[in-house]
Amino acid sequence: MPTLNQSYVSKGSWRSDLFKGKVVFVTGGAGTICKVQTEALVLLGANAAIVGRNKEKTDAAAKDIASLRPDAKVISLPNIDVRDVNSLVTAVNKTVEELGRIDFVIAGAAGNFLSDFNHLSSNAFKSVVAIDLLGSFNTIKACFEQLRKNKGAIIFVSATLHYYGVPFQIHVGAAKAGVDALSNALAVELGPLGIRSNCLAPGPIDNTEGLQRLAKGTKDQMAANIPLQRLGTTEDIADATVYLFSPAASYVTGDVLVVDGGSWHVGNLGNRDYPVNIIKALDAPGSKL
Ligand code: COA
Repeated sequence: MPTLNQSYVSKGSWRSDLFKGKVVFVTGGAGTICKVQTEALVLLGANAAIVGRNKEKTDAAAKDIASLRPDAKVISLPNIDVRDVNSLVTAVNKTVEELGRIDFVIAGAAGNFLSDFNHLSSNAFKSVVAIDLLGSFNTIKACFEQLRKNKGAIIFVSATLHYYGVPFQIHVGAAKAGVDALSNALAVELGPLGIRSNCLAPGPIDNTEGLQRLAKGTKDQMAANIPLQRLGTTEDIADATVYLFSPAASYVTGDVLVVDGGSWHVGNLGNRDYPVNIIKALDAPGSKL
């Protein structure tokens, strides 16, 4: 006798109105990764609040996402710095006022640039840790009452940089390691309240600002070094996001979903001239404290 029956399909995780009545609060929602995550949820019925630092970019992203579904409500919450918990509380209050609730949180605001250790100042390290790690903590702090009330779910946008030592990314690796630890501890502490917490760790995703700015080599060269032989797509990220917020993942918490085509397993970070490129960078003038 089979274990599943027809109700498995009708309760289903893959309906077109899967997230109808749900609201997602997204920091970094104007960036490529978080924007496509939000687009997927809105296409499947959710409403959304897009939080960002830059007004023009945040307004444009919200408008763009809203155009995906005729009755979608997508609000823009610009001029918010995730390092400031009070500005996040204001954003959460505005979201509840305008959209009624918050069910899902995507903590995606992040800062990144390439720098060798000798040219990475203490303040630069602190800035990235404050945006990525403290900002993630602040986001959940501000959303906590809504998450508790609605037995919500969290996705932290993480990375794979801290699974091993990645040069030029000391600050980001340290911050994202903290984000994974934060998510794990929240999964344990908030699980009894019915709140799930997971990380999504994208690898090299085509047509993202991060890949354009941070990766080395041509797209073909990058793809050749990835086990699945292609760059990721924004749709890969959308699918993973839908899964993690859907009932299909209702027993998944404290996990990291890596969406990278197997990339990190082969230490694939484009530093083909290692260690020559690092030694050159460390020795360049302009050492910073
Ligand atoms: N290389 C080395 N140091 C850098 C740097 C770079 N490319 N960019 C910034 N810094 C340093 C600054 O020099 C400063 O340190 P200092 O005081 O010792 O000089 C420190 O970082 C803070 O810089 P500031 O511009 O005041 O920071 P901020 O808090 O406004 O923003 C970032 C920091 C990381 C967000 C900024 O670099 C940025 O806007 N990046 C682009 C957006 C982004 O990263 N998006 C993520 C996509 S993956």
